[in-house]
Amino acid sequence: MNTEQLRQLLPIIRNVTYMNTGWAGPSPTPVIKQVSETMELEALNGPASRKGLEFIRGILELGRQSVSDLLDCDREEVWVTHSTTEGVNIVMYGLKWEAGDELVVCDLEHAALMAPARVLAQRKGVNVNVAAVSPKASRDDILAAIDRELRPGVKLIALSHIQYTCGLKMPIKEITNLAHQRGIPVLVDGAQSVGQIGVNVKDLGCDFYAMSGQKWLMGPTGTGALYVDRASMGLLEPHFTTNALEAERPTERLPLARFSLASQSGALVAGLIEAVSIANRVGLGQIETRSGALSDLLRERVSHVDGCELLGPTTGPSACGLVTLRVGNWDPTDLVEELEEQFDIAARAVHNPDGIRFSTHFFNTEDEVERVATTLIEVASRHF
Ligand SMILES: Cc1ncc(COP(=O)(O)O)c(C=O)c1O
Repeated sequence: MNTEQLRQLLPIIRNVTYMNTGWAGPSPTPVIKQVSETMELEALNGPASRKGLEFIRGILELGRQSVSDLLDCDREEVWVTHSTTEGVNIVMYGLKWEAGDELVVCDLEHAALMAPARVLAQRKGVNVNVAAVSPKASRDDILAAIDRELRPGVKLIALSHIQYTCGLKMPIKEITNLAHQRGIPVLVDGAQSVGQIGVNVKDLGCDFYAMSGQKWLMGPTGTGALYVDRASMGLLEPHFTTNALEAERPTERLPLARFSLASQSGALVAGLIEAVSIANRVGLGQIETRSGALSDLLRERVSHVDGCELLGPTTGPSACGLVTLRVGNWDPTDLVEELEEQFDIAARAVHNPDGIRFSTHFFNTEDEVERVATTLIEVASRHF
């Protein structure tokens, strides 16, 4: 599937230059159709009839299969969740912490990771070691910053694969190697990576990988998944307990079912499966290459604009399809509002570093990048 064919499936792009996929991607029409048709079928079958339950169970299994194919792991190592945050919470609260244990994070992390870290510090007396990582740090600098925090007593390293504010891609494979040499498990927040760049969890070597369906995969909000390496399953105990559908049937018992927090919506999971299928039809390699190239183009265009300052990596293996910049004296939130109201351009404000973030996905075009750059030139001159 090429860019134009994908755009045909995205009604929004007729009206809006949509560069906020890092928050939530627009769902293609076949995804929306799958969600609504599945709901209709569920209602027709009777959602809790034998036929209805079999129908939904089949979709949930397919969901695990499609995510495990995407991440290159076994189906039993994947649990479909409702978000990245849920997966992060399952791991962070699932480990057996004792007062004085240490957790390593970095100072660019999303609240999805920082909030449970803070609660672990308050409730369990866990020491949270925050590695200082600059938004433009080189891979060697990142490794050195993490290495410095790996004192005895560290029980987990928890980091994003791609930092959401500035688009810094972290050297996860190297970090995992470093951690495993000292027997420390690694949790990766993959909210900004899955669907944007190729992710092979076995190659990365991490123990846990949490992801979202609604961002770069353009699936429905309320979908996500958690990967747990088979060898690391014993590290976790469920914090919440429910009578997960599968766990009730001994013959189908799945190792991760006990971490389920709530019933799954078959309709939303059907939408996620369709979203993964579309990403596969486009080609994940093609998505990564094109979204990176569009971001490079945007960075190149704004680098010459008076008053625009790029806040994240500008090139190389640490850069990706997220571009964050400061524009003159604009407050980022005001600028986001101005772009949306006056120019129909959707982006988001971020903090630390404070700026405006553009996400370039495969479906965006060079013309759209040009339009954003031209608009930034115009607005920069107004608040300089
Ligand atoms: C790095 C990162 N982690 C976690 C999240 C939260 O994702 P979800 O809403 O799927 O929990 C986001 C959302 O922007 C994110 O960028």
